[in-house]
Amino acid sequence: MRITTATGMLWRGLCMIVPLLFASVNLRNKGIAASAETNYKGKWELFSQNSGVSAMHLILLPKTNNSLMFDATIFKTSRLKFQDPHCQNVVVPKSLVEEHCFAHSVLMDFETTKVKPLRLKYDTWCSSGALDVKGRLVSTGGFNNGSDTVRILDKCDDCTWKEYPGTLGNGRWYATQVTLGDGRFMVFGGRDFPTYEFVPTEGKRNTKNQVIDFKFLRETHDPVENNLYPFVYLHTDGNLFIFANNRSVLLNPKTNSIVHEFPVLPNGARSYPSSGFSCMLPITLQPDEKRSVIPAEVLVCGGAAHNAFTLANLTRPPVFPPATKDCGLIDISQMQKATWKILQMPSPRILGDALVLPTGDVLLVNGAKSGSAGWENARDPNLVPVLYSVASSSFKELNPSTIPRMYHSTSAVLPDARILIAGSNTNDGYLDVALFPTETRVEKFSPHYFDPALDRFRTEIVYDKKAKRINYGMPFKLQVKGGDENLDMQKLQVNIYNPPFTTHGISMNQRMIRLGISDVKKDKDAKDVSVISLQGAPNGNVAPPGYYMLFVVYNGVPCRRAMWINVNK
Ligand SMILES: *[C@@H]1O[C@H](CO)[C@@H](O)[C@H](O)[C@H]1NC(C)=O
Ligand SMILES: *[C@@H]1O[C@H](CO)[C@@H](O)[C@H](O)[C@H]1NC(C)=O
Ligand SMILES: *[C@@H]1O[C@H](CO)[C@@H](O)[C@H](O)[C@H]1NC(C)=O
Ligand SMILES: *[C@@H]1O[C@H](CO)[C@@H](O)[C@H](O)[C@H]1NC(C)=O
Repeated sequence: MRITTATGMLWRGLCMIVPLLFASVNLRNKGIAASAETNYKGKWELFSQNSGVSAMHLILLPKTNNSLMFDATIFKTSRLKFQDPHCQNVVVPKSLVEEHCFAHSVLMDFETTKVKPLRLKYDTWCSSGALDVKGRLVSTGGFNNGSDTVRILDKCDDCTWKEYPGTLGNGRWYATQVTLGDGRFMVFGGRDFPTYEFVPTEGKRNTKNQVIDFKFLRETHDPVENNLYPFVYLHTDGNLFIFANNRSVLLNPKTNSIVHEFPVLPNGARSYPSSGFSCMLPITLQPDEKRSVIPAEVLVCGGAAHNAFTLANLTRPPVFPPATKDCGLIDISQMQKATWKILQMPSPRILGDALVLPTGDVLLVNGAKSGSAGWENARDPNLVPVLYSVASSSFKELNPSTIPRMYHSTSAVLPDARILIAGSNTNDGYLDVALFPTETRVEKFSPHYFDPALDRFRTEIVYDKKAKRINYGMPFKLQVKGGDENLDMQKLQVNIYNPPFTTHGISMNQRMIRLGISDVKKDKDAKDVSVISLQGAPNGNVAPPGYYMLFVVYNGVPCRRAMWINVNK
């Protein structure tokens, strides 16, 4: 199916001139900054013995040191009780009152392991979410009475969930939330609802009329779904790239028309329950960015055969087919000329995460080597994280973990460039004894760039209050300490990263933008300080408004700690 609109024609016209522009940009502008060689394979540490709640969903809250972890109220139990004296002797909930003793969402300080339980009333099971312009989490959907609920959690120390049931026009269970260039949210799909809708502003409700039927989700529905939690990315031209099962389209959210359909990605299904994982590669800007179309590439990896869930969950004895070993990479800005480049990972993987590291490379982590999604449906934990290098388009295995992270596991990039790894197999209510018990241990992984030999390249951002709000197109300066005698511009990157909402192998709204650097100079007054001149992203379609972590990367090594910035008009 191919639908052509006037917008589609226009973009294709513009695409013709892009290759010419490409020829004249240097390597650095393609995101290939020089980086130091290392054979260091990373290091794992057990960070916390018990997060209390198994992190089925995980997101960092800006400016605090808080990671938010939550599962589902349907489980009734967890490994953390509220302080109520009545609750202290309750082991297994037997009544509605006792169910209220167990937390289903926590804020965990990712520096100290301190955990704070937060009450949730409407079920968040397999829900969706994103940070809004103010850095609050806006969570959508879930199960049962949570499926049409919108919840908001602000980032203050004593904030609690605000819950708005009956807000969405359709139930959203296994749906995907995406942020548009103007900061509004849309939610796509979910079980039994091949539709989408805008998330209304706080306190407003959608009627059924505000729900838009989406034939693409209807068409990509297999007998066992395989189109839930679709991968959705805002393209730099304001259209939405939507991938479900093995197909993908560009949707114009203003006209609700499909602008382009990309070729099918062969070799199995990639969406839930054949859960693959995906990310958008860093969007690389030039200093004084003027291109009419800014390239954007999407990586879709792993997954399983179309019938994997049937074999693992509905067949007796169960069969656990091998997971998919390949990835597809596509430049969505090429439109008609876009094709999938097929890459082979070192090992098959399902239920993993694709996290964009502060350097712009991708970490493939967590998951299994066979089976499907569902809490007893996967086997052969894939303990080996894989580094995908964007510059060389190649994979490298890093040091393995010892803790299986199967269905319902999550991960997040921290401001110190380490990776937080949590969750796995909530099962139907926290099993201590099972083939894969419910996991509440939390680990941290220090990737390859923590090679002690590279420590001298770790810079430190000198905080400048004025630089914390970055307006679109605004030139600004960053002061940086260390890294080298004289910072070499060819080895320097400044990357801003939007903390994603991670669940089920999907990291919603994960986005990295590599800012254009125009100049690097020694500071006049402090000789160990360098001043980087750069420019904010051009508009909201490139970088939706909100909070980002800003990482300075020198010689392939991220700075000691990212700075939180607010990107806005
Ligand atoms: C977060 O942790 C870092 C490192 O321990 C610390 O320097 C900083 O003050 C903490 N920030 C907040 C808001 O607690
Ligand atoms: C939502 O539904 C669950 C049962 O699935 C019930 O325990 C809970 O009390 C309901 N929440 C509210 C606020 O009605
Ligand atoms: C894409 O998925 C559909 C099932 O939804 C399947 O029938 C079709 O063969 C797949 N296409 C390819 C090229 O794998
Ligand atoms: C199938 O999956 C569902 C949901 O994940 C689970 O409740 C059920 O126990 C599974 N059935 C079998 C036979 O594995």
